[in-house]
Amino acid sequence: MYDYRIGDCRELLKTIPDKSVRLVVTSPPYNIGKPYGKYKDKIALNEWKELINDVTKEVYRILTPDGAFFLNLSPVPVGDSKEIVPLPFIGYQILKNNNLYLRNMITWTFNNMQNCTNRLSGRYENILWGVKDLDNYIFNLDDVRIPYITKGDKRLAEGGGRNPTDVWYFDRVNNMTKKKLNLSHPTIYPLPMIVRIVKMATNPGDIVLDPFAGSGTSLVAAKIMGRNAIGFELDAKYKEECERRLKTEGTIPASTFDELYEDAEKVERFQNAQSKSVELAEQLKFDI
Ligand SMILES: C[S@@+](CC[C@H](N)C(=O)[O-])C[C@H]1O[C@@H](n2cnc3c(N)ncnc32)[C@H](O)[C@@H]1O
Repeated sequence: MYDYRIGDCRELLKTIPDKSVRLVVTSPPYNIGKPYGKYKDKIALNEWKELINDVTKEVYRILTPDGAFFLNLSPVPVGDSKEIVPLPFIGYQILKNNNLYLRNMITWTFNNMQNCTNRLSGRYENILWGVKDLDNYIFNLDDVRIPYITKGDKRLAEGGGRNPTDVWYFDRVNNMTKKKLNLSHPTIYPLPMIVRIVKMATNPGDIVLDPFAGSGTSLVAAKIMGRNAIGFELDAKYKEECERRLKTEGTIPASTFDELYEDAEKVERFQNAQSKSVELAEQLKFDI
């Protein structure tokens, strides 16, 4: 079941039954003036906090007792002075105020991002992993193990692997990839990163929900991994993008995202799979 609904997530969340969703994973607007269309991404900081708080309150209600909330936030430059406001700190307070416990604050790092001249160039965002119960939550560690650092480590041959740690490297989705996939959304999540979260924090058949769904990366990741997904989005123009992605990238085999491949091979396998999904998109266009 893949359900993408247009509207304000604060209202749409109210239609979701209590304790029915295993994972909420989302990247909300950062209040930095991104051109999302209907949503104006520059509001007073207090209003932004209220939005995230309202959403988190509903998230707590709809999560199963062993459910988790993965909230992606970043330090952002604000106003003419471009003072840095660390949104993850604010997010942490909001999680705590809504009775969620922090399990990890993941650092997501990348290289492909603009360079600054008056401060250090920003190269990370955070993903706050909040749980309802510190003694009862899903953590499928064996599904996300990565290769050992020492090549030829015997444990690797035995199918093991090490904990992926709380520092993750995933390239941001660049304009070339967006063009190739014919996507217009300005801030698309890296699909392999969300696949990792879905594998780690849910089981097959579970429901994954993204209240700020955009181009639908969370729904696509859920489909690849055999989970159900619900997405909410304010701007109707992204619905077609999500539906197309479900039919194309959504058919990438789950094995493509096997974490035990070495980094270079991982990237190659994913790029090949993405190219195949572009071919599929062309055929679908032809069929229409
Ligand atoms: C950072 S983007 C999400 C991108 C998404 N992770 C992806 O991979 O495409 C945030 C999205 O939230 C949407 N949005 C903003 N306010 C909203 C609201 N109140 N309810 C639903 N969607 C909203 C924006 O239109 C934007 O597409």
